[in-house]
Amino acid sequence: MSARPPVVLLLSGPNLQLLGDRDPKVYGTERLEDHVRRASERAAAHGLALEHLQADAEAALVAAVHGARGRAAALVVNAGALTHYGWALHDALATFAGPVVELHLSNPAAREPWRQTSVVAPVADGTVAGFGGLGYLLALDAVAALLGRA
Ligand code: DQA
Repeated sequence: MSARPPVVLLLSGPNLQLLGDRDPKVYGTERLEDHVRRASERAAAHGLALEHLQADAEAALVAAVHGARGRAAALVVNAGALTHYGWALHDALATFAGPVVELHLSNPAAREPWRQTSVVAPVADGTVAGFGGLGYLLALDAVAALLGRA
């Protein structure tokens, strides 16, 4: 009997369910479900199982991080605008023992000043930003490497 693959939890913050319609020049024309499907395939190629949660409310994301403690092997977090002020999410991520990869479709460092601060970055192992949908694949590759699987 083979062991269950380690779980990677992908968290998507507010407004990311509107991808495809929302500001396609910045975020592209693909929908969140397209990114999640391809991220799941990349996870499976690394012997990992992807779970996904999208929530507009910070409390739901915090609860998901709590639920991932001791259960998930790693987190990939695109916190949307919560990236820039979500201190409760920051504190929750700080309690997670495994790898945390911060992810953005756009490159917030090249955008408005208020996007240039991330409260996720200080509790992440690293950040993938500015590569559009490719970022989901790069984030899964980074997680696999951090878990010693790539
Ligand atoms: C984002 C960047 C954030 O500044 C923004 O609020 C988002 C999306 C990105 O993926 O580029 O909602 O996280």
